[in-house]
Amino acid sequence: MTSALARTPPATPGLPFIGSLYRMMFDPLHYLQEVPPTHGGLVKLGRAAGRAVYLVTDAEMLKEVLTQPDRFLSGPVKAFFKPLFRDGLVTSDGAAWRQQRKLIQPSFHPRRLAAAQPRMARTIAAGMESWSSDIDAGSVVDMYELLNQISMRVVLDAIFDLPGAPPEALELGTSVGSAMDYLYDAFWRPYLPPRWVPTPRNRRFARNLAAIDACVGALIEQRSGDSSGDDLLSILCRALGSADGLPREEVVGHLVSIIIGGFETTALVMTYALHLVHAHPDVKAQLVSEVDRVLGGDLPTVEHIEQLVYTRQVLDESMRIYPPAWLFGRTPAKDEALGGFAVPADANLLISPWAVHHRPDYWPDPERFDPSRFAADSGVDRHPFSYIPFGGGPRFCVGRNLALMEGVLLLAMFIQRFEYRTVRPERFSLVPGVTLRPAEGLPMVLTRR
Ligand code: HEM
Repeated sequence: MTSALARTPPATPGLPFIGSLYRMMFDPLHYLQEVPPTHGGLVKLGRAAGRAVYLVTDAEMLKEVLTQPDRFLSGPVKAFFKPLFRDGLVTSDGAAWRQQRKLIQPSFHPRRLAAAQPRMARTIAAGMESWSSDIDAGSVVDMYELLNQISMRVVLDAIFDLPGAPPEALELGTSVGSAMDYLYDAFWRPYLPPRWVPTPRNRRFARNLAAIDACVGALIEQRSGDSSGDDLLSILCRALGSADGLPREEVVGHLVSIIIGGFETTALVMTYALHLVHAHPDVKAQLVSEVDRVLGGDLPTVEHIEQLVYTRQVLDESMRIYPPAWLFGRTPAKDEALGGFAVPADANLLISPWAVHHRPDYWPDPERFDPSRFAADSGVDRHPFSYIPFGGGPRFCVGRNLALMEGVLLLAMFIQRFEYRTVRPERFSLVPGVTLRPAEGLPMVLTRR
């Protein structure tokens, strides 16, 4: 029960019933920056799908919510995404989630990633070499698209041991992206026809789900023939085949979750880093100087990664300004008093790294791109939950170590090889969906250094 002393959180003014949520539907990024300075760290935005919706941006309250997964559940708020994530890690809670996390987390252990690192570097180098004809022709390329392709190969190889990933697997990205857009729209636009109505949108969604099923199913069938390896696909296939094994829907859910979580987010970080670096010649000069000093012409090793300190700061600051996972959520398991405010059991608590990372009281001059904010001697007084690109608490991103290793490799190897010019940077804008995407990709012209 909520404490009798708990106060009602402030609410934003808005329309009857839905409150100010219509602004979340149509202009969420501006809205999420405006609300915290005027209304504080916990604010009621309105109601959606029969539930009260709150925005939490206070770092101490975020710590309370994110570090207590049994008090604040993940599943109810992610139920909308179940058609895609099934019963996998992303949508489970309680004992089931703990058991799943125990099964999956070891595949992302730093020791295992260090062993996979030379292969990752070779995959990235081969991907970058394949851009040769575009470079020779001086063509405009969409770097966001090219990075997605490399990133998908890295995840499939490093986590599932699929070095020569089949072309269907590489095309998963398109089906997954389109299915995620559909579900995000369905969440914010409840007036759209339900899934069983055969509209063109619904039929497209069904086709995408079928393509994902067929592809993930084929990966499972193939590996089930010999699942003696220690990669995650083999581990899951063994668990599927054992006597008290995992249900197939759960295995498919885990695979889809890792694929979705794994490829686009990292490509986005790198896309945003290149966009920001291009607009800041001083940062670019420092980055080039570090990469040349540490790497010279070598393929990076784990030791090099540790020395690429400024490269990592550039990535950290890029994820602050443009966090790819810009919005997620939790639901209290029972009526709660959060930071002294009453929140009901079925509420949607929105957690937005975008909103937190742009709070001027946590990040002075928040729009300024300044990688030195992440220098070792900087930000010692900063609240750890004022920077949450990977979430926080026990449910923090399971792929964080992989994403950071891959991010540093991608950025350093790109800077080592290329000079670049972004095309029409003034038209750069963002589309918030399940992830935060660049509206028109990242068009650029590359030259070899
Ligand atoms: C820069 C890249 C990435 C970002 C910004 C990111 C962000 C996040 C965030 C914010 C969460 C927490 C969501 C929540 O608490 O509800 C999360 C969870 C998750 N991420 Fe990532 N992620 C990234 C890369 C990856 C990679 C590379 C993988 C896998 C290969 C991955 C797989 C997952 C999974 C499976 C979860 C669910 C964990 C759980 O609920 O226990 N992510 N990610």
